[in-house]
Amino acid sequence: MRKVVINEKISDNSYLIGIEDKDIIKNFIPGQFCIIMARDNSERIPLTIYDYDDNGIVYLIYQVIGASTLELSMVKDYIYSLSGPLGRPSEICLNYKDYLDKKIIYVAGGVGIAPVYPQVKYLKDKGISCDIIYGARNKDLLLIKDKIEAISNVTYATDDGSFGIKGNVCDALSQVINQYDYCVTIGPVIMMKFVCDLTKKHSLKTIVSMNPIMVDGSGMCGACRCMVDGKMKFACIDGPEFDGHLVDFDSAIKRLNIYKEEEKEKMNLMKKKLENNDGR
Ligand SMILES: Cc1cc2nc3c(=O)[nH]c(=O)nc-3n(C[C@H](O)[C@H](O)[C@H](O)COP(=O)(O)OP(=O)(O)OC[C@H]3O[C@@H](n4cnc5c(N)ncnc54)[C@H](O)[C@@H]3O)c2cc1C
Ligand code: FES
Repeated sequence: MRKVVINEKISDNSYLIGIEDKDIIKNFIPGQFCIIMARDNSERIPLTIYDYDDNGIVYLIYQVIGASTLELSMVKDYIYSLSGPLGRPSEICLNYKDYLDKKIIYVAGGVGIAPVYPQVKYLKDKGISCDIIYGARNKDLLLIKDKIEAISNVTYATDDGSFGIKGNVCDALSQVINQYDYCVTIGPVIMMKFVCDLTKKHSLKTIVSMNPIMVDGSGMCGACRCMVDGKMKFACIDGPEFDGHLVDFDSAIKRLNIYKEEEKEKMNLMKKKLENNDGR
């Protein structure tokens, strides 16, 4: 069991959860994730480590999109387990000395800003200032604006023009693309695909963070497999970051949708269960 110190709504469908876990923090390098279970019989949810503090609290931001994240949003005092840090750290953070004189742009979509924040913060502490393009459907879905503005020069893009540039992150990126040596993009798979299509045309090396369905998170089950450069990779141990120009996004999108019907059914069952016992 792990103590939950905060689990609050920060936008229409996103939550910030803070959990006591000093061990995860000790070994964490940005880019890594953890697997959280709300209850002993819950599904395992992979979530990126977004932040931590001196009191040993790990912070995660999650979007409620299905049964497991809905169940997590109802948790008040304790979660069943938190495992991590898992996956490989961000290659730029790990080898930051190779990037001291490089211009790096981070392109985030929606809740993808949660994995972007710790990387940009880490690099800033090492003397590398990165820029961020952050997009969402509308201004109410933009998260942690104060925190990212404190560490970076941020350009916003919203589909409806309610904040920043009217358009998507590719519209914003295409205006400045020639200024950068590297791009890192994190968000919905379809967004990362379009960013990579654009950066490929400009020969801008691009790293993506894949978010496939995961089960064990340790390379045993194969659930998180992705095709990269024609080879099968497991996002949980070989990633989650990959060279975006080598990822087969179409197969990744297909795999994310294979359990759609089952997920819908599970969501309905979870809603009923939570109505009956408030999820605790
Ligand atoms: C390494 C990694 C890090 C992640 N970090 C974060 C994070 O920091 N914050 C966050 O909100 N989410 C993150 N995710 C995604 C998160 O794990 C899923 O949203 C969650 O598992 C969905 O569970 P669910 O049961 O609520 O929804 P499900 O019932 O599993 O899915 C509901 C709907 O969402 C779609 N879906 C399921 N999984 C994903 C996915 N990974 N990406 C896009 N669509 C999906 C399904 O196709 C379905 O339509 C991460 C995933 C990975 C692999
Ligand atoms: S989640 Fe099982 S192999 Fe990656």
